[in-house]
Amino acid sequence: MYSYYGPICTELYDFTKPVGFSLGGDIEYYLERLQGTKGKILEAGVGSGRFLIPLLEKGLNVDGIDYSPEMLASCQTRCAERGLKPNLYEGNLSNFSLDSKYEAVVMSTGSFCLIENPKDALDALRCMYNHLIPGGRLIVDLLLPIDWKTGEIDSSYYEISKEEGISLERKAVEMNWVDQYTLTVLKYEKWKNGKLIDTELQRFPIRWYGIEEFQHILTSIGFSDITCSAEYVYNKKPSKEHSLFTFEAVRK
Ligand SMILES: C[S@@+](CC[C@H](N)C(=O)[O-])C[C@H]1O[C@@H](n2cnc3c(N)ncnc32)[C@H](O)[C@@H]1O
Repeated sequence: MYSYYGPICTELYDFTKPVGFSLGGDIEYYLERLQGTKGKILEAGVGSGRFLIPLLEKGLNVDGIDYSPEMLASCQTRCAERGLKPNLYEGNLSNFSLDSKYEAVVMSTGSFCLIENPKDALDALRCMYNHLIPGGRLIVDLLLPIDWKTGEIDSSYYEISKEEGISLERKAVEMNWVDQYTLTVLKYEKWKNGKLIDTELQRFPIRWYGIEEFQHILTSIGFSDITCSAEYVYNKKPSKEHSLFTFEAVRK
């Protein structure tokens, strides 16, 4: 019934989040944390390269992995336009196996929370751990849905060109306190000269974690030296007003 990061979603993502468009300061923060990294870096959930390309342009050696062919195709085009040739892999984070080992694995802007199933999330963290060199770092953001309102509907309209536009309706369908996720349903509609030409319906679950819970998960996998920073300020202590946290952890 549902699509996932399909063509209209990708088109709108690229339109609203162009290359280098920083979401709340994520690109600047990760660039600072990755300063001095000489080895390879892997961006998990690379999407269409909004975050990857600025890192490559700063001289970092970054590969990307994602399971959306549409997002990867867009990333490939945007890299080629800039003369960049990163290794881009199509794969699921919960069971990937690449030939390289990385000095850092990064996943910004809460994309990790898109992994709905707890077992898949654990498997993804294990895969990331296995792809790090000893001493390599995982840097990953988590989101807390502190402003959630079940039933809320929000509509936006984007004029892509004189003839074409995309409308997006987001409906906050469910907050599941027991299984720790929120479910939003996204309805994308593509319009041409006032006529509906295509639609996509996307489930958009966001899984959330307690701070201590996530620390325990990282420890259980074997990570050490775990820090948690709020709102893209390194080592800023998380408090109840914050909704974005960045964990950093080292492979022993
Ligand atoms: C919100 S987008 C972020 C894209 C890019 N990192 C950025 O910051 O602009 C999340 C991306 O994660 C990818 N993704 C989500 N779950 C995934 C999984 N289990 N395996 C691989 N990719 C996944 C989606 O296909 C999508 O491209």
